[in-house]
This record gives sequence, C-alpha cells and structure tokens, in this order.
Amino acid sequence: SRRVTVRDLAAAKARGERWAMLTAYDAMTAGVFDEAGIPVLLVGDSMGNCHLGYDTTVPVTMDEIAMLSAAVVRGTKRALVVADLPFGSYQESPAQALRNAVRLMKEAGVHAVKLEGGERSAPAIEMLVQAGVPVMAHLGLTPQSVHALGGYPVQGRGDEAAHQLLRDAKTVQSAGAFSVVLEAVPAELAAQVTHELHVPTVGIGAGVGCDAQVLVWTDMSGMTAGRVPKFVKKYADLRAELGRAAAEYMDEVRSGAFPAEEHSFH
Ligand code: KIV
Ligand code: NA
Repeated sequence: SRRVTVRDLAAAKARGERWAMLTAYDAMTAGVFDEAGIPVLLVGDSMGNCHLGYDTTVPVTMDEIAMLSAAVVRGTKRALVVADLPFGSYQESPAQALRNAVRLMKEAGVHAVKLEGGERSAPAIEMLVQAGVPVMAHLGLTPQSVHALGGYPVQGRGDEAAHQLLRDAKTVQSAGAFSVVLEAVPAELAAQVTHELHVPTVGIGAGVGCDAQVLVWTDMSGMTAGRVPKFVKKYADLRAELGRAAAEYMDEVRSGAFPAEEHSFH
C-alpha cells in the first residue's frame, strides 16, 4: 500500500475524518506505529528532551534531526514522515530554511517539514512551498522560544492573543502550509481556528475541536520519567514494564536462572 500524502490529509478534513499523529525517533518504534496504522509520524525536535537528554529543544541540531529522520523513514512503509526544522535552522532567511528542508528531504527522505511561528515564519513557508516542500506550521506554544516565553505557558488567552493566533493561522495557510499544529491553546479558540481554516489543524493540548491530534510517543506510552503535561493521556505504562523486565533479567543472571538449558548450545 502506498504512502499517505498531504492530499489524503486534505481529503480527510473535507470528509470530517479525524486522524492521529505520533512522534518517532528511531526505526523500531516508527515501525510499530506504522504497523498500527498511524498515518503521520513526526520526527519532532522533542527528541531533544525525550531521546537525547537535553533540557529543551533548543540545542537540537540539523545533524541529529537528519540522522533520526532517516531511521524513521527506513522503519516505515506507509506513514507520511514530517521532520522538525530545529531551532536556528530556518530563522536566518527563507534561503536557509530551504537549504535545510531540502537536506532533510534528500538525505533523510522525509516527506514534509514542520517549523514554528506564524507571521514571522511566513516568508520561509512561502519559499519552501514554492520549491515543492510540504510545510506543517506550528502555532500557539512554540517550545523553541522557551527562553523568550519564560517557560511553557498556555497561549492565545485573552482577546488580543486570540486574534493574533487566528491571524497567524490564516497567514501560514495563505503562505501554503498544508497543516497547522496548535499547541497549548484554549479548546474554544482551537475549534474556531479549525473552523476558519481549510487546511487541517493538529492539536496538542488544544481540545477535541481540532481536525487531528498529536502526542509525543514517550509521553503517551508512559516511557517519560516524572510528570507529563496536563494534556497528555497515558495509554500504557512502558517505563514500569521495561524497568521490571530489566530488574528480573538482572536477578536471574545473579541467581543463575538465566541462561537456562533452552538458551544454551552444546
Ligand atoms: O517536537 C514535537 O514533538 C512537536 C509536537 C509536540 C507537535 O513539535
Ligand atoms: Na517540535
């Protein structure tokens, strides 16, 4: 069966069908999600926090995104793979954005890229789209700006902020974005944006009124240590299960219960 395309996502909005996106950072988990039927996988710069051990997404480099994106593409047959343009890889100029997006498409084989920002990123989105790069925009809470925002507060609260978010959404749509992520936005505002755009919105902490949803896979599977944001639902407890398996293996090595006869050659 062929890959999901951006046209399929546009058609889903026209039919009123919701879809799910998950992050992936390696071939093995990407393969699991691909086989489960997840239509869109995001090689998010959230890899900084949950895969590479950084405190924020700010240090993530093009080399890191490119290497893990290639692994995700290799691990999938059907999913549309979107890669984040990391902090500093597109803000300088539209030409810089295009150079780095093209690198991810040619070197890693991704099918689309995502970048943060509304009006401020519209010139870059326009140049990418004109060059044939499908672009997913990312509005509301934009984690690459964590140090400017002073944390991860909910966005779009109050009339002025709500109007700006709506303006940003329409601007990135006009620039040619095929979809818009809305992160940590009041549900009513996200539903309004979804209603006013013809391209699909992908919510994370943005309520049920979006066309699609995205979660970070380590959060939704219970792999993340400690607290997760309020908008995360845990569908499994993988961290506890994997820790239990590791401890049991260790105990059996110490006791001599592993390896048993059936694991041995003669
Ligand atoms: O990097 C990421 O995982 C993201 C999603 C949360 C939208 O940008
Ligand atoms: Na991201």
